Amino acid sequence: MQSLSGKTAVISGGAEGIGLALAKGLGALGMNIVLGDIEAKALARAQEIMTDLNIPHLAVEMDVSIRDDWQHTARAAQERFGDIHMLVNNAGVGGGMGALGNLDESGWRWAIDVNLMGVVYGADTFVPLMKGHGEDAWLINVASMAGMAGVPLAGSYTATKAAVVALTEAWSTELADSAIHVSVLAPAFVKTRIHQSHRNRQARYAPTTAPGPEVMKMAKGSAQAVENGIDPELLAKRVLEALDAKETYIFTHPKYRFVTDERSANIAKAFDSAAESPLVADVAEAPMALGFVDS
Ligand SMILES: NC(=O)c1ccc[n+]([C@@H]2O[C@H](COP(=O)([O-])OP(=O)(O)OC[C@H]3O[C@@H](n4cnc5c(N)ncnc54)[C@H](O)[C@@H]3O)[C@@H](O)[C@H]2O)c1
Repeated sequence: MQSLSGKTAVISGGAEGIGLALAKGLGALGMNIVLGDIEAKALARAQEIMTDLNIPHLAVEMDVSIRDDWQHTARAAQERFGDIHMLVNNAGVGGGMGALGNLDESGWRWAIDVNLMGVVYGADTFVPLMKGHGEDAWLINVASMAGMAGVPLAGSYTATKAAVVALTEAWSTELADSAIHVSVLAPAFVKTRIHQSHRNRQARYAPTTAPGPEVMKMAKGSAQAVENGIDPELLAKRVLEALDAKETYIFTHPKYRFVTDERSANIAKAFDSAAESPLVADVAEAPMALGFVDS
């Protein structure tokens, strides 16, 4: 990989799990690391780890769903390290699980504000700074395989992660002429504390409904799958390998390919059906192809 040594990465949700593993992996390549996280105790533990590893770092207590916290993080990061070259939009939460008809509305707001708006605010804060210095830079958004197809009973998680995939695709086109490389990471299960993310559920998103029995069963199953998931350190190595290869989609669980294959096949079938319909078969292409606007 092109040398990252001496450059600076900001990692949201960097105090543990996938964020901390990436911090260690990028730090081992010589990067300065800014860890942003909502959980003060976990941040303090992460700082000790980074100190033991001799990785130059800064820890900032922040909530990704609050735009001002991003501004504060950017100022602190620049004061300490100067230019920023990488943003890993990693912080994420499970959101409210629930079956249709038993909506935990505050769980939806929580997932939207953290998983989606957190990514938007992060990019909105750091992309102009990375564009400003013009050197090679990276924007890495952490989605999930849950963003590649709908997961039942996990509507808010799957919808926000699908939005992160789509946003990455849009931003990748928007930034194609810049020196910023844009990627989306879509792991399946990784051994972290994501299944306990309610530990960081802000008081303003207190649950409005109790989960039903099917949701409890599903939560237990996904907790087990997370506990049997891949090691975050292995995931971090895979991310570095994929960044080196300039991959836009970063996958860590190749056996999950059936998820996107099935989805693509169903979509192709639906297009075939539309093409055979006498109602719309002759509808002309729009004058502007998606994503490209002629000047
Ligand atoms: N673990 C998995 O199986 C898995 C699979 C696919 C995707 N992901 C995604 O990976 C990312 C990292 O999750 P993880 O698995 O390491 O979970 P984790 O719970 O171990 O770590 C998440 C980190 O984000 C922090 N955080 C939570 N809310 C925050 C907020 N509002 N502001 C700032 N920080 C906040 C937490 O304190 C924690 O340090 C998430 O986006 C998650 O959706 C995880």
